[in-house]
Amino acid sequence: MQQVVRQWRAVDPVDDDLFTLLAARKPGFSLPGALYTGQAAFDADMDVIFHRHWIVVGCEADVPEAGDVYAVDIGPSPIVLVRDDEGEIRAFHNVCSHRGAKIVPTGRAIVGKLVCPYHQWTYELSGELTGAPHMGIDFDKALHHLKPVAMRNVAGLIYVCLSNDPPVDIEDFAAAMEPRIAPYDLKNTKIAYETDLIEDGNWKLTMENNRECYHCAGNHPELALSFHSSDFGFDPTELNDDERADAEALAAAYAQKTSAWEACGLPSAAINNVVGHPTQFRTQRLIIAGHGESQTLDTRAACRVPLSDAVATGTGDTHLWTANGWNHFMGDHAVVFTVIPVSPDKTLVRTKWLVHKDAVEGEDYDLANLISVWVDTNREDADLVRIAHQGAQSAGYRPGPYSRFTERTLDDWSTWYVERMQANGY
Ligand code: FES
Ligand SMILES: [Fe+2]
Repeated sequence: MQQVVRQWRAVDPVDDDLFTLLAARKPGFSLPGALYTGQAAFDADMDVIFHRHWIVVGCEADVPEAGDVYAVDIGPSPIVLVRDDEGEIRAFHNVCSHRGAKIVPTGRAIVGKLVCPYHQWTYELSGELTGAPHMGIDFDKALHHLKPVAMRNVAGLIYVCLSNDPPVDIEDFAAAMEPRIAPYDLKNTKIAYETDLIEDGNWKLTMENNRECYHCAGNHPELALSFHSSDFGFDPTELNDDERADAEALAAAYAQKTSAWEACGLPSAAINNVVGHPTQFRTQRLIIAGHGESQTLDTRAACRVPLSDAVATGTGDTHLWTANGWNHFMGDHAVVFTVIPVSPDKTLVRTKWLVHKDAVEGEDYDLANLISVWVDTNREDADLVRIAHQGAQSAGYRPGPYSRFTERTLDDWSTWYVERMQANGY
């Protein structure tokens, strides 16, 4: 008897064409499945978003002292952040000018110089090549400096662009965000804790999941304690009288708090520079629910040493979303997330909890209390990204409608994504 071999594919062959896939995305709907799951889309994302746009890779606290290095791999391109002898942060391709070996292992180290393990070419922290044995007296070391990476330090968050022609609107982003982040004094923070989570899903599903809180009430009991759910949109026709009264009270509180914060020199009004902006971002200062101090289980500050006097009490949560990250800056601590794609269905989410550099664990903060909400929330989100990816690769997947009340930001996100890919030749 002839054996029947069942063959099927999750997408029509024509969908492998990225031009077709990008053009097929309908406004108001999620992306065609192969843009989340396909290798071709992943490779194009690494090319366009992660090599031609500004992406966040770290913060001041990653390299607190001269000689500290922090090496991060952006897909095939290893880079390294270095704190030089003058105290400035520099970014280089982590690639030797001799025959291209990766110089510094991925992760953190303390070095006097950058020494390539292959043939021991030696670079100063400035990137200058000062040691190249046996290359001859006519060899001009000055021509073989480490290749710099475009870098912009935005009030302590480190953005890089691997392109030789980075988008110039990073300056718009910096102009908006420096006054918002500077009061948190990130230069004087330390990393109290860091986690690396590999999510089993595409990086765009990770980003979409973070951009909406439609899922929060049903999935994040810990985070929901400090979030006002109506901050993230609602269909007014579905509210009962109590919910409508709550939403109106919150809107009134925002009107009052936002003008009070801004009067104190703390910019707070929402900015939504996504569609039409190569360097996209959203930001808003949010009111923290409960006692209003921090994203902890009791909504009180987790660390008794504030990040600065300017944000010591009652200044809410400055929330910042960018192309590959999100952040919460609160009076007592900050949480900084960076997203680096690993493969079409694997995404690294690195989370750093920052406290004032003088805060002492066990005295000024209890580590478990500090990290508990986002450790749980990250785990819950990883589950959601995993099931979203599983569905996206199914033969049954169809792009689905975003809620115009609770997922409007996702429509912006996906529109931005298609716009950026098409503007870069896809
Ligand atoms: S490749 Fe680095 S010294 Fe040769
Ligand atoms: Fe979530």
